[in-house]
Amino acid sequence: MSKAIKGFSKLTKQEKIDWVVSNFFQDPEEGKSVLNQYWNSDEKLQQVHDEFIENTLTNYYLPFGVAPNFLINDEIYTIPMAIEESSVVAAAAKAASFWMARGGFKAEVISTKKIGHVHFVYYGDYDKLLKFFNGIKDKFYADTESITTNMRKRGGGITDIMLINKNYEEPNYYQIKANFETIDSMGANFINTCLEQFADTLQREIETSKIFTEEEKQIQIIMCILSNYTPECLVRAEVNCSVKELATEHMTGLEFAEKFERAIHVATIEPYRATTHNKGIMNGIDAVVIATGNDFRAVEAAAHTYAARSGQYRSLTKCEIKNDQFRFWLDIPMALGTVGGLTTLHPMVKFAYKLLGNPGAKELMMIIAASGLAQNFGALKALTTTGIQQGHMKMHLLNVLNGLGATDQEKDFFKIYFKDKVPRHSDIVNKFNEMRAEKK
Ligand code: MEV
Repeated sequence: MSKAIKGFSKLTKQEKIDWVVSNFFQDPEEGKSVLNQYWNSDEKLQQVHDEFIENTLTNYYLPFGVAPNFLINDEIYTIPMAIEESSVVAAAAKAASFWMARGGFKAEVISTKKIGHVHFVYYGDYDKLLKFFNGIKDKFYADTESITTNMRKRGGGITDIMLINKNYEEPNYYQIKANFETIDSMGANFINTCLEQFADTLQREIETSKIFTEEEKQIQIIMCILSNYTPECLVRAEVNCSVKELATEHMTGLEFAEKFERAIHVATIEPYRATTHNKGIMNGIDAVVIATGNDFRAVEAAAHTYAARSGQYRSLTKCEIKNDQFRFWLDIPMALGTVGGLTTLHPMVKFAYKLLGNPGAKELMMIIAASGLAQNFGALKALTTTGIQQGHMKMHLLNVLNGLGATDQEKDFFKIYFKDKVPRHSDIVNKFNEMRAEKK
């Protein structure tokens, strides 16, 4: 048996499964039965999932939960979240209720610009190229007219095309940089198709021009690709209330607000903390991005580059206390689509959109930003008051017990046992072993 294989993608699904289980499992039947368990018996539905990617063997489930009571711009949402981390949905729901009682979230889309580049090499004079480029600019629009027709009908399209000189960083390196408005679609395919046409247009125009020498005509297109960094596809979510409305059992509103502000400041100046702080924001963001069938890798990549835009990685959220008012906000780039991609294919994604009232991309940006802000508020509130483990381990208790093979009866016992204590992992395991030993 060999662990390498040629032409795997050409095998039937059954052949792929057979090859995988017989090569990598001591008990192939056991491997098969796990795959079968997650297989959908509805053949049509399974086929939809099969065809999302190559070499599908089965499905991979994540829990799909909801966080209700999100008041955003005076509208109440129940937000769908697909995530495996125990405490995320609970924390979002808790923060949503907290802020619902204090006026809710305000959110706004600041801008919706998307960007793509044709990266190329040109061995000649920049001024000559610039003059030429400006002279043929109309051709880029004309050659992409059929690609952009539908997008233009919806109010989007190519909004600008420019030549960028990158010589100071890399000799002979230039870019065609184009801005796009893609309305309710994420626009990756649209942008990339336009860019590849720009490259063809540039090459054709240079080749047929009389002003370039033979050497100058030898441009090399390195690549044509959208940028996932979208600092001008930006959304803001914020909350505010009077400082005294933040009082907790053990702290005045001002004490809490000042400690919270200090925690944000730590995440602004200390990259180690900023990374964890922003990870917590992304807990709330990714879960909704995934539930709504969007590309969480793109959203993650943009968020982290944005967090480092000053040259140092910093907190994505900010906070201020002014005239007895507490204000807390998140600015985050977010390229989303509410049409195309999985939105019309994945039944759970369709469900998520219905649940949200079928939002357009801008509304979804605001909902997701509010979810990220709520998550960060929940994390910081716990961290600066009770400590994170109290809530976190309460939610994680069932995972630990499931890992130990606890019965339903034992789980009920543990829920009561840890009601008023932090369920530390070692305490759960010790108590569980003790109980099992007593039973013997
Ligand atoms: C855990 O997934 C996220 C937190 O670590 C975030 C934070 O520390 O702000 C709780």
